[in-house]
Amino acid sequence: MVRPSHPSLLVPLIAAVLIATALGAGAVAPAGAVIAPAFSRPLVIPRVLTDSSITLTAKLADVQILPGRKTRMWTYNGTFPGPTIRRPTGQTTTVTLVNNLPAAAGELTLHNHGNHSTAENDGQPDDFLALPNGGSVKYAYTGTEAGANERGAFQWYHDHRMDVTGRNVWMGLAGMYIIDDPADPQTLPKGEFDVPLLVADRSFDANNQLAYTFNAAGVTGNRILVNGVPQPYFNVGDRKYRFRILNASNSRSYDFALGNGQSFIQIGTESGLLPAPVKRSHILVGPAERVEVVVDFARKLGQRIVLQNVAANGSLRQVMQFRVTRDLTDNSSVPAKLRPLPALEATSAVTRTFEFGRNRFSGAWTINDQTFDPNRVDASPKLGATETWIFTNKSGSNHIVHLHDVDQQLVSRNGVAAKAYERMKESWNLGIDETIVLKLKFTDNLGKFVFHCHILEHEDAAMMAQLEVVP
Ligand code: C2O
Ligand code: CU
Ligand code: CU
Repeated sequence: MVRPSHPSLLVPLIAAVLIATALGAGAVAPAGAVIAPAFSRPLVIPRVLTDSSITLTAKLADVQILPGRKTRMWTYNGTFPGPTIRRPTGQTTTVTLVNNLPAAAGELTLHNHGNHSTAENDGQPDDFLALPNGGSVKYAYTGTEAGANERGAFQWYHDHRMDVTGRNVWMGLAGMYIIDDPADPQTLPKGEFDVPLLVADRSFDANNQLAYTFNAAGVTGNRILVNGVPQPYFNVGDRKYRFRILNASNSRSYDFALGNGQSFIQIGTESGLLPAPVKRSHILVGPAERVEVVVDFARKLGQRIVLQNVAANGSLRQVMQFRVTRDLTDNSSVPAKLRPLPALEATSAVTRTFEFGRNRFSGAWTINDQTFDPNRVDASPKLGATETWIFTNKSGSNHIVHLHDVDQQLVSRNGVAAKAYERMKESWNLGIDETIVLKLKFTDNLGKFVFHCHILEHEDAAMMAQLEVVP
């Protein structure tokens, strides 16, 4: 079954914003776009909102991304990325989404990715929508799980409208969300030494405007932006930093490494801190995945160290540059033990298998041979149960399995016991012909939640399914 074709949603007003170029994987910069040399602009840290009640207004804004003409984007509160929401665990936060984009952008919905939200507050793709012309939806997040505080985590928020999430995120509808947790070790680098980095690729036309043409294979850009700045530099001190790295790209994966050969100390995933730090020379991060790392710049004063994507060559290999320009004392430390994982033992004999595939005739991306239908429920686990779910990939392409709401831990990847650094997550790389076995716990919330590939064009091409937690 083929979904309605996406470009037809773009009426002329939007077409003026989205000047389509023949764009696909590996597309080159349209002639005329202004190319600034790498590392010529400083990193920007998005504004941080800490109130219990937050309004995110989706609206057009002209944002300085490239030198010269500004880029008209779809923003939350006028910036790209949107403001970073930072809240203590255990406290309720309400976020009101107001839709002030041109009506042609359609309805919007806001998903707090990684959060344990109730079904009404999850940012459903086709329900509880913010209608055009000032429509709004109010979301409430309790900050709790199973009667206790939610674990500290580096989450993010983004639009999730059915069929057009890729377009909406590409145009700018994404931001970061941090849950602070007093149960996490407090000696880790904090304050200005705790830096969130939203990495996303984009392409621009000759007038510096975003170019987006739907391509079910996945849309990649030819510029790497960090917090909205193309290949920035960042002045750091000769001490430890905590970097929270989010891959907010539609379909590009990054294999991050430091250009001086130094290893990262990985301390966390999407789902919070690891039980213990893990030294890693490079880290593969697919769309929607996050890693938290500590990088120690001690004894590096005067050096310039590039954060690279070693999966790419040429200018796409350069993500950003750290310039060690400040002589500082370091009072932070990385404890040998961070945070134990919650026990998650299967309590139910139910095992479900989902094959991420591709229809041999239509070419459509499928999950168990089906495309998304918001009126169909694909699994009905019982509230409180812990089940075993198996994901396989026979599609000949890479996917990122993401499940909303539920607690999840990896048992094995291709029959090998889960590595410590990917035991607890909520977005899972699923390579060609791979099999991952997860344990899922359905706590607190009844109702419907989606799970899908987080390559956004696969998702928009309906590589999505739905679970319903039942009493
Ligand atoms: Cu970040 Cu269902 O998504
Ligand atoms: Cu999500
Ligand atoms: Cu996919």
